Amino acid sequence: MFNSSTEVVPAPRVVPRHVAIIMDGNGRWARARFLPRVAGHRRGLEAVRETVKGCVERGVEFLTLFAFSSENWRRPADEVSVLQQLFRLALEQEVSKLHETGIRLRVIGDLAPFGETIAALVRKAEALTAGNSRLTLSIAANYGGRWDLMQAINRMTREPHPDATDYSEQDLARYLAMSYAPEPDLFVRTGGEQRISNFLLWQLAYTELYFTPTLWPDFGLGALDEAIASYRSRERRFGRTSDQILAAAGAAPQERHADGQAAAEDPQEAAVSRRRQA
Ligand code: FPP
Repeated sequence: MFNSSTEVVPAPRVVPRHVAIIMDGNGRWARARFLPRVAGHRRGLEAVRETVKGCVERGVEFLTLFAFSSENWRRPADEVSVLQQLFRLALEQEVSKLHETGIRLRVIGDLAPFGETIAALVRKAEALTAGNSRLTLSIAANYGGRWDLMQAINRMTREPHPDATDYSEQDLARYLAMSYAPEPDLFVRTGGEQRISNFLLWQLAYTELYFTPTLWPDFGLGALDEAIASYRSRERRFGRTSDQILAAAGAAPQERHADGQAAAEDPQEAAVSRRRQA
């Protein structure tokens, strides 16, 4: 389990540990070229490859991509079908490369409507890459933040609990689809719109938000670096004052509770830093 940003102040980081992206603008990219919208989605998959590579090279540990929202079923049937085909193709063709690169793949969302072929490919890919630790790539497919909260609440309240009238943040967080990842440090949305669109509603509580007019198929390494540079320029206060941040900057970087007490070592973070030192 990872610490919650409302309970423990995360240690400052030069490179965001977790980047979450809404990849928007594929349709407009295609329209500007008099191409069908699906050509934009195909080019979007190339931008996914480049961003994954860029995140590995920069030391990002978790990358989460919004590939298909619970609300995307409202699109024309042929476009929904092409998006599903692309997802299936990516699972069939890209997973071995991800595995060779040391990437762990996870898919979050309700996979049932995609059918058994895709669900089986996802299970196989997740099992194959489960032991990798260079980067955790999460694909949100038929995902919605409200869906996630509701499935977590339903599972939590269905299971026996010692004090069922007084659940904590930690109780709920354990049932969320992304309980295996820390909260995102940086949220990126391409394509010019400035909204969260029912993405990781719980986890974005203290995430730095970055919006760019760049359309997703044009999002390359330079654009990724601009997003990271913007993140770096932010003062992440987590409810504290600027003076407190400056005073803490002199001390060794460490996660802290609101009262300033050092938080318990996060086991996954400690393992990663030991591996890097080795
Ligand atoms: C939003 O652009 C994009 C999507 C709904 C799909 C994203 C899919 C990909 C990038 C390719 C597949 C990726 C994986 C991981 C298999 P839009 O269509 O809303 O663009 P618009 O706002 O310009 O119309």
